[in-house]
Amino acid sequence: MRVAPSIIAGDQARLGAEVRAITEAGADLVHLDVMDGHFVPNLTLGPGVLKDLRPHTPLPFDVHLMLSNPGGFIDAFVEAGASRIAIHVEVPDLDPVLRRIAERGVQAGLALNPPTPWQDVIPWLGRVDFLLVMTVHPGFYGQALIPDALDKIPPLKQHMDALGRRIPIMVDGGVDPRNIARIAGAGADEVVAGSAVFRSPDYREAIAALREVRS
Ligand code: DX5
Ligand code: ZN
Repeated sequence: MRVAPSIIAGDQARLGAEVRAITEAGADLVHLDVMDGHFVPNLTLGPGVLKDLRPHTPLPFDVHLMLSNPGGFIDAFVEAGASRIAIHVEVPDLDPVLRRIAERGVQAGLALNPPTPWQDVIPWLGRVDFLLVMTVHPGFYGQALIPDALDKIPPLKQHMDALGRRIPIMVDGGVDPRNIARIAGAGADEVVAGSAVFRSPDYREAIAALREVRS
């Protein structure tokens, strides 16, 4: 299981140190939650923060855009150092945004909110590199995982296998050591973990507890 700590759950006044700490603790990716106060009821960080964090780790930055207008920000996040960028399937007019992400040579992800049916991603499967299955309503770290959202993973995998195009599935929201076996059992390849890592006294142990799950 690949683990991407979400740095919004870290100490926002010491983000460089937090990124170095999760790197040393064995993280696979750094997850950056970007919120616009419109698509979700919260504000977080922008491309300037990513640009300044980029030199603090060799790990890939996994940028999750919770924005009503993601298309306006692709270039800025690519130039700041994003390795992959997820946009939400609930946002209208995805075609030009996915095209721009591809043109800029970074991996594209498609995120689905808990109420969104898995079938909504079908038209885009040929154009994205990973899926981000949300297991909380986006906006805040520290919420409880909504188990029903995991039920989307097996049919998604079956559908992709039938198409012969199997892309990684990442689970985001409320992931912790108590539910990681269930998440792995549903078929997730990667998880985001905010509070499970940053609210733990030992980042290495917290990451290992998720990474070493057996499904
Ligand atoms: C929710 C974000 C998540 C969240 C993860 O809007 O997309 O990435 O910060 O934090 P935890 O693991 O605490 O739910
Ligand atoms: Zn996220």
